[in-house]
Amino acid sequence: MSQRPVLLIGGSGIVGRWAARYLREAHPAVPLLLGGRDLARAREAAAGLGQAEGVAVDLAREDLGLGERPVSAVAVLFTDERVAGLRFAQSRGVPYLSISPGLNEIGPEVAAYIHRPTASAVVLGTEWLVGATTIPALAFARAFGRVHAIKVGALLDEQDAFGPAAEADLERQTKTMPAALMRRDGVYVWRVGDDARASFRAVDGTAMAASALSPNDVLGLANATGAPDVQFNLALGVSSSRRRGEPLSTEILIELTGEDHAGQPLRTRHAVVHPQGQ
Ligand SMILES: NC(=O)c1ccc[n+]([C@@H]2O[C@H](COP(=O)([O-])OP(=O)(O)OC[C@H]3O[C@@H](n4cnc5c(N)ncnc54)[C@H](OP(=O)(O)O)[C@@H]3O)[C@@H](O)[C@H]2O)c1
Repeated sequence: MSQRPVLLIGGSGIVGRWAARYLREAHPAVPLLLGGRDLARAREAAAGLGQAEGVAVDLAREDLGLGERPVSAVAVLFTDERVAGLRFAQSRGVPYLSISPGLNEIGPEVAAYIHRPTASAVVLGTEWLVGATTIPALAFARAFGRVHAIKVGALLDEQDAFGPAAEADLERQTKTMPAALMRRDGVYVWRVGDDARASFRAVDGTAMAASALSPNDVLGLANATGAPDVQFNLALGVSSSRRRGEPLSTEILIELTGEDHAGQPLRTRHAVVHPQGQ
């Protein structure tokens, strides 16, 4: 039986090309459809991947312009303000993933899911670096009997590459979401003004000035661990590797405090580093 392809809408962008490469490495036989508005660009992104095809996607159309083409899953790799990708996935009964809408923007996706909860599995994946923060943090939390606080510091190198869709998100979200959510003493609060200013030490120990941000990790980690204190801070600057004269990297510092399984105080600090940046 031939396998139905995974549709990556935004597969011709910076994140989409990486996603397609990683998917291809992990699943050599899975066919991929890379979609975007610009068909030539989508085709160029698909070329050479093997078992991949570029397609034009029109979010204004119910079938996204794909007609009856079968797909096995849909990932949307930019902010789809029409929620067209999710509705399309629901109409086909296939899983759906998004990685872009901010915490204050997920209402339309949540509503579409609540309305038809059994139509599609839905992953709202706007975690920082799509899980590269939450998944290791949850692994580190296993050493704890109780987690009291999780503090995440993400360092994004100012020379890291991002495309126009990411720039549009940043511009829109800084206007619509000047406050950032955290959990403090068990209460969800929005950090603004001085409360939104923070600092953390980079991998090489350099103090970095940071600002509060609330990727979905804040909610995911608070719910999964029960930690009454969860906060996320972002610093834009020079990554530790570049300070050493090496190519840029991206860093995520994860600090946990609480008690171990014997009830003794425990504090851990971990770094997740990706050598090529985000
Ligand atoms: N959660 C995370 O960890 C994380 C990390 C990094 C980035 N991001 C998000 O990932 C997204 C992609 O970033 P990027 O740097 O890869 O941006 P990008 O290079 O601009 O890629 C955007 C992609 O989406 C397509 N696209 C944009 N608008 C479209 C529309 N209306 N209909 C169909 N296709 C459309 C573009 O193709 P066409 O121009 O041909 O349409 C392109 O393939 C951004 O939203 C960014 O915020 C999330």
